[in-house]
Amino acid sequence: MDSLLIKGGVPLHGDVTISGAKNAVLPIMAATLLTAEKCVIRRVPDLSDVKFMGKILASLGAEVKAEGDTVTVQAAKIKGVGDYDLIRKMRGSICILGPLLARLHKAKVSLPGGCVIGTRPIDLHLKGLRALGVGIKVESGYILATAKKLTGADLFLGGRAGPTVLGTANIIMAAVLAEGVTLIESAACEPEVMDLCNFLTAMGAKITGVGSPTITITGVKELHGAEHEVIPDRIEAATYAIAAAATNGEVTLHGARAEHMNAVLDKLRESGVKVERQGAALKVRRGGRLKPVDITTLPYAGFPTDVQAQMMALMILTPGISIITERIFESRFTHAAELMRLGADISIEGPSAIVKGGKPLSGAPVMASDLRASAALVIAGLCAKGATQVNRIYHLDRGYEKMDDKLKALGARIERVEET
Ligand code: EPU
Repeated sequence: MDSLLIKGGVPLHGDVTISGAKNAVLPIMAATLLTAEKCVIRRVPDLSDVKFMGKILASLGAEVKAEGDTVTVQAAKIKGVGDYDLIRKMRGSICILGPLLARLHKAKVSLPGGCVIGTRPIDLHLKGLRALGVGIKVESGYILATAKKLTGADLFLGGRAGPTVLGTANIIMAAVLAEGVTLIESAACEPEVMDLCNFLTAMGAKITGVGSPTITITGVKELHGAEHEVIPDRIEAATYAIAAAATNGEVTLHGARAEHMNAVLDKLRESGVKVERQGAALKVRRGGRLKPVDITTLPYAGFPTDVQAQMMALMILTPGISIITERIFESRFTHAAELMRLGADISIEGPSAIVKGGKPLSGAPVMASDLRASAALVIAGLCAKGATQVNRIYHLDRGYEKMDDKLKALGARIERVEET
């Protein structure tokens, strides 16, 4: 397994272009299963999760072609039975369930596994599909779903931690070809769900309330092919903004959409970081002394759980006490123990991490446990004295396009060490 070797202490300077959003492109690729016609998706990031989704679509019978950052999918003839091992491995693959049911009225897909950030149930996905008339059994690790037809319904999709992002995506994709009107209350408002809805609308779907907690879908008989450009990745943009502030540098993020990042930008400004909008770019630099801030992760438009770990990396550098509370995933603090190897002072109290920042960091070998935890370790490594080796970076390759190259272009001393 590859690792990253980072020699810390260099402020990041320069320009970085933000790639397409991983969490938008995965459901959008799944949505191509809704039509037999050709779909063209642009600004597709080069990520292992995207390649994986391409393999899943191909295993269902779709023709998938990638050229540069454009992916073309034609699902002329597909089957409803997914490859057990392929689907089981990536949580995001659950969003093929809705499109398969809409198109074929049947699907057999493996249950997605849990992961280090929590148990990640799919009860809300199944509840929503059942409301549309789908019969569902879970047997021998498979979800077996069938329906004579899908019928629109009123449903509430809120769960213990609020709305579900992929659950909302799944139900919308099932409802676009259902008979009648579906009304989803407590729908996820994330920009990635909006992007999916924009793609579905381009395919001929009828959806209103996009970006609000109440979404209405009026089913249509069929959808057609469409072209779409994926939104820039707000989580990637936030990660580079935090890295710029953490290293005391100055970085311009090209393509970053400030309107999708207000909760993060607000906290960065509160902690003393200067963020300026410059046309279609954001310029970020540390304005002076960093100040500690308290953070609670929430569904959009609150502070994203996917930026919690990176923000912790900034707070360990910030003199004073910050309290970071995780409200979306119960076990999403695995990065804390690894950050402590570098010298951070963090204690976990239930859903909160208490960070006593400002302690000197020194490089060490650390282990990446999930995608965003890996990003936090990279940021901390960029600030630590000496060398930090971040192991198991396949997590990073799942969700950050060429992170080592982008950081190198900003002046970081970072090398990928390939396992021989
Ligand atoms: N939940 C349920 N039941 C369900 C579904 C979710 O109780 O049926 C709970 C979850 O356990 C969690 C909360 O609801 O407590 C929110 O989970 P959600 O369903 O919104 O997460 P997801 O859709 O599986 C997506 C992203 C995650 C991101 C979350 C939250 C993709 C591929 N994944 O996951 O991204 O953290 O939304 O914003 O879109 C990442 O990119 O690193 C990542 C983990």
